[in-house]
Amino acid sequence: MTAEIIDGKAIAATIRQEIAQEVVEMREKAGRVPGLATVLVGERPDSATYVRMKKRACAEVGIDSFSYDLPADISQADLLVLVQELNDNPAVDGILVQLPLPDHIDEETILSAISLEKDVDGFHPLNIGRLSMKGRDPLFVPCTPKGCIELLDRTGVTIDGKNAVVLGRSNIVGLPVAMLLLHRNATLTICHSRTQNIPGVIRQADILIAAVGRAEMVKGDWIKPGAVVIDVGVNAVDDASKKKGYRLVGDVDFDEAREVAGAITPVPGGVGPMTIAMLLRNTMDGARRTENIA
Ligand code: GUN
Repeated sequence: MTAEIIDGKAIAATIRQEIAQEVVEMREKAGRVPGLATVLVGERPDSATYVRMKKRACAEVGIDSFSYDLPADISQADLLVLVQELNDNPAVDGILVQLPLPDHIDEETILSAISLEKDVDGFHPLNIGRLSMKGRDPLFVPCTPKGCIELLDRTGVTIDGKNAVVLGRSNIVGLPVAMLLLHRNATLTICHSRTQNIPGVIRQADILIAAVGRAEMVKGDWIKPGAVVIDVGVNAVDDASKKKGYRLVGDVDFDEAREVAGAITPVPGGVGPMTIAMLLRNTMDGARRTENIA
């Protein structure tokens, strides 16, 4: 069997078109467009790239972006002042503080200071808490986990009643995507560094979400025939044949897995574009809520 390739790039492009249309409608109804503030502390090249891609995506769909590039040694107090200003700024519907933050800044203090209504990353402890409870709706759901579920939905994959395995338990992906799968009535297993017999657990998965950050860890013979595989990993591996000297691979050995799985996301071009599309979605939804647009 050769798996269906889930084209995250194409699905994300469709979602961006949908949002661009909603931006036009909002301009007509409310006389303004949504706004996203991006906050980058320090000069990590990966974070700088992600923030640049997010700003570019905003521009493409007509969302305003306001960017704040701050020195790595900014004090926590000064960063909190900025967050408060953005909370109070009516042109800003979403505040994105790119993670990780430098060690001298307490991540939870900063994330807790973001207004719940502008928490488009969904990382505010209250939004995460609501996500983790039955019947409590968070105002926003984190973008990468939301993108994984959107990929399943738009590919026509049923989640209800399926065995879902999440590999990884990070705050940004593993944990929240597990909660989303549970809300959708999957039977859920989370694998992590202390799990025994990870291949045996993964072999039970009808749906596998790999978010562990280890290049090509999941082998083809770990995968249940016909399973749906969502690969969140983005890992650089040396490759002298490439101009940059490396190439990006996922947490799943794609060439092996595609011979066994029913459907699989590629890296790049799978989950990555969906993360950004979901950030635009959340920003748009926040603005609609503020403007009372149904
Ligand atoms: N760092 C890695 N992923 C993310 C994300 O989705 N949002 C933010 N703010 N930081 C990140």
